[in-house]
Amino acid sequence: MMLYILLIIGLVIYEYPIFAYRVILKNITHGEDNFAIKKSINNDRHMKKYESLSDDIIELNIGGQKMSTLRSTLTAVPNSKLSLMFSKDNSKTILPIDKQGAVFFDYNPIYFNYLLDQLRTIKRMSKASGYQLQFSPPFINSHMNFTHMLVDLGLTPDYFLSPMEGTHINLTVSSLAGWQECYRSTYAVPFDLSVLTKACNGSRLLVACRPVNHKKMFTLAAIGEREDILHPCLPKQCKINTKSKKKNMKLICSSRYQCITQAKRGVGWYHVNNQTWGFVRGSLSFVVNPCDASNLDSDYRLCWSSQLERKQGGGDRCGSAKNLQNSNKWERLIYYIN
Ligand SMILES: *[C@@H]1O[C@H](CO)[C@@H](O)[C@H](O)[C@H]1NC(C)=O
Ligand SMILES: *[C@@H]1O[C@H](CO)[C@@H](O)[C@H](O)[C@H]1NC(C)=O
Ligand SMILES: *[C@@H]1O[C@H](CO)[C@@H](O)[C@H](O)[C@H]1NC(C)=O
Ligand SMILES: *[C@@H]1O[C@H](CO)[C@@H](O)[C@H](O)[C@H]1NC(C)=O
Ligand SMILES: *[C@@H]1O[C@H](CO)[C@@H](O)[C@H](O)[C@H]1NC(C)=O
Repeated sequence: MMLYILLIIGLVIYEYPIFAYRVILKNITHGEDNFAIKKSINNDRHMKKYESLSDDIIELNIGGQKMSTLRSTLTAVPNSKLSLMFSKDNSKTILPIDKQGAVFFDYNPIYFNYLLDQLRTIKRMSKASGYQLQFSPPFINSHMNFTHMLVDLGLTPDYFLSPMEGTHINLTVSSLAGWQECYRSTYAVPFDLSVLTKACNGSRLLVACRPVNHKKMFTLAAIGEREDILHPCLPKQCKINTKSKKKNMKLICSSRYQCITQAKRGVGWYHVNNQTWGFVRGSLSFVVNPCDASNLDSDYRLCWSSQLERKQGGGDRCGSAKNLQNSNKWERLIYYIN
C-alpha cells in the first residue's frame, strides 16, 4: 500500500508543474458536481490528499465491468470527445451513471481496457503529435468493433484535429480543433520567413489570410506538412546575350521564377528564396514576379513576398484580393500543431 502511494505521489509530481497545483485543487470539486461522478476515495485520507494535489479517480462501468482510472488518462488526447466529456470545466455533457455512481459506457470491457493502456502511454509522451496518434485494437479481427468505439469517443484525428489537410475558403475560426496560433500580422508588415523556424516550427502548419475585421473566418487557408511547405521554384532562366558584342558577353536572367507545384494533400506549395512564399490549389505551373499574379483559380492562391523584395512591390495576395503588400486591412496568420 505504502509503495503504491509513493508511486502515485511520484507520478503526480511528474505530471504537474508545481505552479499548477493550487488552481487544479480549487476546481476539482467544481467539475465533479457537474458530472455527478462518484468519488470512490472519500474515506481514504491518503488518497484524498493525493486527489487534492492533482487529478481525481474516475469510476467507470464498462459494459458491466468496473474500472477506475485517473481523469488525466481519459483526457490524454486534447480535444477528443472523450477528453471533453471528462474535462473539469465541462458542464454541458451529462454522462450516464449506474446505481453506484460509476460512469457507464456500453463497450466491450476488453477493448476499453486496451484503449486505457494506450491512453496511459500517450499521457506519458511529452509532445504527442495529434494527427499521428493511432490506436490499435487488441486483436486483428476486432479492428471494426474497436474503431467504432474510437469514433464514438472522438478519438480519431478527424475529430480532434480539424481541418486535417487541403485548401479552404471561408473557413470558420471556431471550427479549428487542435491548432495553435503562432503568427499574426497585417500585410503592411513585411513577412519574415524565419518565423517558420522560430515561433511556427510545428510539424504541420495552417497558413491563412483574411480582412482584419473578419475575425470569425479565414478568407483562405491551407494546411501543409513541414517538409512540403518550402517546395522550391525552378532557378532563374539565364542566357547569354548573343546580340551583344563579344567583349561584353552578359548573362541575361529573367526576373521571373517558374513555379511548378506538386499537390501535397491538395495543396501546391512554392517558395523562392528571399522572395516569395505561397500556395495554390493542386499541381500547377505559373510564374512569380515577385509574387503570383495569376487569375486562374484565383480564390485559392495565397502569396506573401519576403521583406527583401518589398521595395519592388510585393504583389502579395489573399485569394482574389491582390496587391495587398502595404495593406493594414488584411492580415496573415499561421497556426501549427506539433
Ligand atoms: C476554476 O473555476 C472558477 C469558477 O468556475 C473559474 O472562474 C476559473 O477560471 C477556474 N480556473 C481554472 C484554471 O480552470
Ligand atoms: C465484433 O462485433 C461483431 C458484431 O457486430 C461480432 O459478431 C464480432 O464477434 C465482434 N468481434 C470481436 C473480435 O469481438
Ligand atoms: C465566402 O464568403 C464571401 C463573403 O464573406 C462570399 O462572398 C463568398 O461567396 C464565399 N465563398 C464561398 C466559396 O463560400
Ligand atoms: C521547435 O523548437 C523547439 C525549441 O525551439 C524545439 O525543441 C523543437 O524540437 C522544435 N520542433 C520542431 C518540429 O522543429
Ligand atoms: C537570403 O537572405 C539571407 C539574409 O539576407 C542571405 O544570408 C542568404 O544568402 C539569401 N539567400 C539567397 C539564396 O539569396
